[in-house]
Amino acid sequence: MHELLPNFIEAPATVPARHAAELAAGLLSRPARVAPKHLYDPLGCRLFEAITALPEYTATRTEAAILAVHGAEIVRALGTGMTLVDLGAGNCAKAASLFSLLQPARYVAVDIAADFIRDALQALQLRHPALPMTGVALDFSQALALPEALGGGQRLMFYPGSSIGNFEPAHARRFLRQAREQCQGGALLIGVDLVKPLAQLLPAYDDALGVTAAFNRNLLLNVNRQLGSDFDPADWAHLACFDPAASRIEMHLRALRAVRVRWDGQQRDFAPGDTIHTENSYKYRIEQFDALLHEAGWSDTRCWTDSEQGFAVFGAKA
Ligand code: AVJ
Repeated sequence: MHELLPNFIEAPATVPARHAAELAAGLLSRPARVAPKHLYDPLGCRLFEAITALPEYTATRTEAAILAVHGAEIVRALGTGMTLVDLGAGNCAKAASLFSLLQPARYVAVDIAADFIRDALQALQLRHPALPMTGVALDFSQALALPEALGGGQRLMFYPGSSIGNFEPAHARRFLRQAREQCQGGALLIGVDLVKPLAQLLPAYDDALGVTAAFNRNLLLNVNRQLGSDFDPADWAHLACFDPAASRIEMHLRALRAVRVRWDGQQRDFAPGDTIHTENSYKYRIEQFDALLHEAGWSDTRCWTDSEQGFAVFGAKA
């Protein structure tokens, strides 16, 4: 029997000082920006879970349905017995639902939200006592550098949920290349949200209940905690739009009135209507993303979609 407490690796890149400098630089630039990873404090993780249950936000459910319908075929294409590396594991639920099919030799949950995966992984370890598990608290938004201590064996790099959409396409290509370099001859399983009519795209990021608005505005509370700033979420409105030329959804926060934000001897004045850019979410066409995978060095690419081609799950080999 294996350890019932999964071991845990906290990467040095998650130290608060680095976040603070990065946050300050973003707030002082024009227009201001804050990286989407700051959406995922403990409350943000729960709000994102709530988003995945919204009628307007179909990506998570569609991806789950694709994996459920084509799971056996996907596993035949990629193989079993690898180390399952779950990039942005969150509550670990997606990966856990694949354990019986994938038969991983080890499960590695990687996420910037250290406390969130620590809890999720401890609960999961009790349900799968024989599967060795490791948690890695890591911010891989700038570069993917898995800790040496993870050990050998082929790795299945699992990057679901279309989180790849948060990267600029050139940055996505670099990330996919780094994932291949670190998979030790293994494979990739990745979820990608596809271009679809605006009438479906926009409500997914501007839902009737205002959950996405709360998710976006909660970022300011997380920034306050990390930077010691004094944002009042009540001063800011949620804004979502689609840029067809870039093929991306953008989320912004828009100042409802004149706002002065102070932190650590610095300040930034916002005029009414000024914005803070908080997220890009790129939407791909199937051929486009397949090309990106090949440019990043992956081969034997396969793609599974739902009948409406709203979402795609790609498999590839190193
Ligand atoms: C985590 C990038 C997949 O873009 O759909 C959901 C995050 N943002 N609603 C997405 C998100 C607003 C999500 N990803």
